[in-house]
Amino acid sequence: MCGIVGYIGYEDVKETILSGLEKLEYRGYDSSGIAILNGTGLHIYKDKGRIAHLREIVDFGKEGTLGIGHTRWATHGKPNKINSHPHQSSTKRFTLVHNGIIENEDLLRMEYLQGVQCESDTDTEVVAQMIQKFTDEGKEPELAIRYTLTLIEGSYALAIIDCENPDVIYVAKNKSPLLIGKGKEFNMVASDAMAMIHHTNEFYELQDKEFAIISRNDVSIYNLFGMQIQRDIFLGELDASDIEKGTYPHYMLKEIDEQPFVIRRIIANYQDENGNLYIDQKIIEAVRSSDKVYIIACGTSYNAGLAGKHLLEKIASKSTEIHVSSEFVYNMPLLSDRPIFIFISQSGETADSRAVLVKVKEMGYPTLALTNVKGSTLYRETDYQLLLHAGPEIAVASTKAYTAQIAVLAILACRIKPCTKVDMLRELSIVANVMEALCDNKDLYEDLAKQYLSDTRNCFYIGRHVDYYTCLEAALKLKEISYIQTEGFAAGELKHGTIALIENDTPVIAVITQESINLNTRSNIKEVKARGAAVITIALKRISSDADQIIIGDVHEYLTPLVSIIPTQLLAYYAALHRGCDIDKPRNLAKSVTVE
Ligand code: M6R
Repeated sequence: MCGIVGYIGYEDVKETILSGLEKLEYRGYDSSGIAILNGTGLHIYKDKGRIAHLREIVDFGKEGTLGIGHTRWATHGKPNKINSHPHQSSTKRFTLVHNGIIENEDLLRMEYLQGVQCESDTDTEVVAQMIQKFTDEGKEPELAIRYTLTLIEGSYALAIIDCENPDVIYVAKNKSPLLIGKGKEFNMVASDAMAMIHHTNEFYELQDKEFAIISRNDVSIYNLFGMQIQRDIFLGELDASDIEKGTYPHYMLKEIDEQPFVIRRIIANYQDENGNLYIDQKIIEAVRSSDKVYIIACGTSYNAGLAGKHLLEKIASKSTEIHVSSEFVYNMPLLSDRPIFIFISQSGETADSRAVLVKVKEMGYPTLALTNVKGSTLYRETDYQLLLHAGPEIAVASTKAYTAQIAVLAILACRIKPCTKVDMLRELSIVANVMEALCDNKDLYEDLAKQYLSDTRNCFYIGRHVDYYTCLEAALKLKEISYIQTEGFAAGELKHGTIALIENDTPVIAVITQESINLNTRSNIKEVKARGAAVITIALKRISSDADQIIIGDVHEYLTPLVSIIPTQLLAYYAALHRGCDIDKPRNLAKSVTVE
C-alpha cells in the first residue's frame, strides 16, 4: 500500500523515480505523483491513475537532480488529483510524500493548525503544514521536522523536500517500511529494495522513529532527539532478474510456475550438511515448551495457516488454534497457559497482524514470524523467525508464498516431533515434481476456465477435510482476480443452506485428495449435479475416477494442499485472463496491507 521513491544525485531523476514507482506498483495504488526540484523551482505532476498516465503528464523537458515520487492507495479522501501525493505546505516551501496513517490528525489540526487552510482531504498534508508552522516560528527545518515527528501518532514513511535546500532529502519512518539505498554520487530512498535494486544493492535500514538526512554523497541517521546513530550497510539479497517478468505476460503466472523451484529451495535451506531437516533448536524448543500454538494471519496466509494447523496437529501432535488477525486483536479468546504465537505473513508488513503482535508481546508471550521478507516489521519484531525463501512475490494474488508457507510449516511440524515417520525432505521433493507436472498442463486449465468461468456470475469450490482449506484459498484466488463471486464450502455443509444457490450451469469445483472423504464428497457432487451445477473435479490420482477432469499426481496425504492448489491458481488466472481483468493488480487491492 502506497509506495515511495526518492533520489538525490547528479543525474536527472525522472526516469529513476518513475521506473522505481513502477517496481512498487505491485503494492497496490490508485493515484501517483512526482516532485522534481531544479534551478527553476519545484515541479509537481500528479493525478489519479496508473504510472503510465503519470508518464504522460510529466514534462520530460524539466530536468532535476533531486526528486520524490509516490503511489497512493486512498485512505483519507478520494483518489483524485488533489489528494494525490506529493503534498505541500501552504507557502509551498515543504513538499512531501507519505506512506501510513496519521492517527491523531484531528487533534493536530485543532492544536496547531487553526486558521491554516488545507488543500486536500489527506492526513498527510497536516505533516507538511506543521513543519511549515514550526519553521515559521523560528525552528531550523531539520528541528521543525523532528519536532513534528514527535507529535505525530500513527504510521509513517516520509520523504520531505525543503525548496530552500536543494542538497538534501529528509526521510523518517515509523511502522511503515522504508529503506535507504547507498549509491556512488547518489543516494536513494524507497519503500522496498525492488525500487532501487537496478541502481544499488547497498542499503541502510531505517528503524522506527528514526530520521535521516540524505545528500548526494552522504547519509546521516538520527533518532528523533537529534542523536546521530551509526548504522552498518547491508547488502541486498535481491537479484534484479527476480523482479522482472521475463517472457511471462503476468507476474502471477511466473510465480505459479516458480512453485516447484521454491519447494526445492526450501528443501535446500532447511537441511543441515548431513542432509537432515534443520530448524534452529531455539525455535524448536520454544514451540515444544508451549502448550498451544496460536496461528495469526490474514487472507491467503490465514488459509495456509489452516493447512499448517492440520500439519502441526497430525505430525507434531501440537494443539493449534488459528485466528484471523483483525478479529483476534479486538476479540481475544481465552488463552492457554503457555501459548506461542506464529505470525504468517508473506510481506511481514500486514498491519492487522502487527497489531496482534504488539498486544501479545505486551502480554509477554513468545512470538515466531513465518515471512518471505527478511527485515520486514514482523521479522524484526518477533522473537523467532522462519523465512519462506519464495523470492519476491509481486502479483497481488499470493501463490508461491502460500505453498512456501505450508511447506515450511510441514518442516517445522516434523522437527518438533523428530520421531515422526514422515520423511519430509523426500516427500517435499515428490511434491515439487508433481507441481511441475501440474504447471505443464496449462492448456487444460485454460480450456476449463474458458468453458466454465468466462461469463459466470458466481462459482463454488467444495471439499472436505484439508480439501476444504484448499477450497477457501481457491475461492479467494478466483474472486480477487476475476471478480467472480466465489465461495469455498465444506462440501457436507452445502445441504444446510447454500445449496439453495445452485442453479442450472452454476460452476461447482470439487477438490478430492483424501481417501477418507472421497465417497462423501462424491455424494455431494451428485447432489449439486442433480440441481443443475456444472461440476469440475480435481482429484488425487490414487482416488480418481475416469470422469475427473483434473488429476493430481500422488503425494503424501499430509501434503496434498501443496499440489491441489495449483490447478485452482491456474483456473483463476485463465478465468481472469478471459474476462479481461488486470491480473497482477486487481481492483481495490494492495499487496501489503499496511493499514488496519
Ligand atoms: O503479506 P501477508 O501475507 O500478511 O498478506 C495477507 C493478505 O493480505 C494476503 O494474503 C491477501 O489475502 C492476498 N492478496 C491474497 O492473494
